[in-house]
Amino acid sequence: MIPERESVLHSWCVQASWDAPTIVGGAGARFWDGAGRSYLDMSSLAECVNLGHQHPRVVAAIRDQAERLCFVTSSWGAGPRAELADELLRRAGFDGGRVFFTLGGADANEHAVKFARQASGKAAGAVITRDRSYHGASYAAMALSGDSRTQGVVDPAVFHVLRVPPPYAYRCPFGSKSDAQCGELAAARVADVIDHEGRDKVAAVLMEANAGTNGIVAPDSFWPALRALTQEREVYLIADEVMSGFGRCGEWFAWQRHGSAARPDLMTLAKGLTGGHMPLAAVLLAPHVSARLENEMLHTGLTYCGHPLACAAGVAAVRAYEEDSLIERSRRLGARLFARLEEMRNKHAVIGEVRGGHGLFAVLELVTDRASRKPLAPWPQEHPALKELVRRAREQGVSFAARGNLLLLAPPLVIAENDLGDALSLLDRLLGELEWK
Ligand SMILES: Cc1ncc(COP(=O)(O)O)c(C=O)c1O
Repeated sequence: MIPERESVLHSWCVQASWDAPTIVGGAGARFWDGAGRSYLDMSSLAECVNLGHQHPRVVAAIRDQAERLCFVTSSWGAGPRAELADELLRRAGFDGGRVFFTLGGADANEHAVKFARQASGKAAGAVITRDRSYHGASYAAMALSGDSRTQGVVDPAVFHVLRVPPPYAYRCPFGSKSDAQCGELAAARVADVIDHEGRDKVAAVLMEANAGTNGIVAPDSFWPALRALTQEREVYLIADEVMSGFGRCGEWFAWQRHGSAARPDLMTLAKGLTGGHMPLAAVLLAPHVSARLENEMLHTGLTYCGHPLACAAGVAAVRAYEEDSLIERSRRLGARLFARLEEMRNKHAVIGEVRGGHGLFAVLELVTDRASRKPLAPWPQEHPALKELVRRAREQGVSFAARGNLLLLAPPLVIAENDLGDALSLLDRLLGELEWK
């Protein structure tokens, strides 16, 4: 095995300190390294392996398609592309709309903004996004993101991006008295910004329907209010479902928790779309949006738009979610996960809040003092004890994801119930063992 430590530029880390094992195989909720050590995956790696590693029917679909035909450019038709577009439109209730395929979440979000601007006729229209959001790491996606890691790299104004405070009820930026009120006030701020700028100057609002890496789960009052106010003002709402889609939050798409009235105008998908088996993302346009592009030139494209191998993986993935009842499973196990984490919160003072639980996605926010909610370390710094927790868990064969004061739990939806229980028992034990000062 040739180690990549000195040859590959690795993401989101200091190169000189990258030191990870080489992963050579996986099955279900586990993967293993070249030395034969296996790890239970409590984050679906990058929150994308929703179907587990090496889902047999997805792997077979990729193999079958590879034997038939690997590549067709998007100026010609391709069977798996057509089939996947139909599946996605139907499941989202976007029947009669259109799908644009890209390679990852960042370029899906960039394209969603392009389409919203073109379809609304507001070519340089502003896009409203949230502080503490993540939409990708290409330049425009960094401008869209309110992410501490990339805040200094781009000027959002250059990309006509306006930011609003998040519906972060645990530390509500509006000083609200309840979670519901925080959601309402956060939505009302979006309305104020649209009204202040003028609705003809704002092309879209782009937000995560259920946030991921920044760890904020909006109160239930937020999304329906956001949908209603954008509709009233005729501003497109784009839901970034890159992480929250495909069962992660107990629905095909997280906004569906609020019913069909909460349906956005555009939606971006990636990660769970193929369960990480192939790089693929998509922008879904509702019919009233795609109709406006019907007789206009579309000045965009990517060589690998709707690559047949990736789309074949997507079709097989969508069928697997359905045939294996994984969306329901995520909802059921997500409720158990949440209940177990709440029990841990009663036991460990370091857990300030547990968020999520609609599906197999939960966030623990760690604090030094529960009453004052003082963060364990100033955001986005990571406390040494949390790093140590992740290290010890890995040593014991469980892979957890942490960021800042947050522990993000997002196991594959196929995780066995006893494995989930064991991983949570280990977490419980490590939370008790470590010094949180
Ligand atoms: C909500 C959200 N949007 C967009 C992205 C960017 O996706 P990608 O890394 O595929 O570009 C991510 C990635 O984590 C994400 O969580």
